[in-house]
Amino acid sequence: MKIIAGNWKMNGTRTTLSEMVSALQSVESENTVVLCVPYTMLGIDGGRISLGAQDVSRHTHGAFTGEVSASMIADTGAKYVIVGHSERRQYHNETNSIVREKAAAALANGLIPIICVGETMDEKQAGKTMAVIESGVRESVPNDVNTDIIIAYEPRWAIGAGLTPTEAEIAEAHTLIAKTLAEMGLGGTPVLYGASVKGSNAAEIMSIPNVDGVLVGGASLKPDDFIPIITSVK
Ligand code: 13P
Repeated sequence: MKIIAGNWKMNGTRTTLSEMVSALQSVESENTVVLCVPYTMLGIDGGRISLGAQDVSRHTHGAFTGEVSASMIADTGAKYVIVGHSERRQYHNETNSIVREKAAAALANGLIPIICVGETMDEKQAGKTMAVIESGVRESVPNDVNTDIIIAYEPRWAIGAGLTPTEAEIAEAHTLIAKTLAEMGLGGTPVLYGASVKGSNAAEIMSIPNVDGVLVGGASLKPDDFIPIITSVK
């Protein structure tokens, strides 16, 4: 069983989400299906899809105009929240320590954080991929985790670019993440791969050791693209 998570980013409407929910109703699969959607689409009945948000405030409540707290997300019935997505790190200057605070806020409110780590092209070219991944995991995961979390490895240079690392590169990254999590007492934590996943490469990617599922951007927006990913693996 794998975790197939979609990240709609700033796309979609409540209508297109309802259409996705209907389209997935008849899909036979034992995989866990998650869609992380804009806040405005939370609260609808996701059917067999578990819903999640794409970001969360590190604050609990108060004078933080425009922010949405973990308790508010949980109040919609959502179960998941992405934290530290590369676009948040890039456009909103989120650091590992901010990501850790956000993940802690999610956990404190019963949400499962999907904590993203991954290297930029500059870091890759400088030979820093493994160091960035390991420090991302060590510094972005809260200390006192005693419930479910999910890690997503998203090579930042490959997102939305139609590029994917080689199988060996994905295997090396996921092996390092699994080993790091085990050293942190979090062995068995699912690790997803994300960046340019589509129906034609999903099964191959999910056959790589330590890849427990995928986090899909563009190809999660339409049932015709998303369903083949969900059904590509048992
Ligand atoms: P793409 O699948 O569009 O490359 O996006 C990946 C991603 O950022 C998922 O969070």
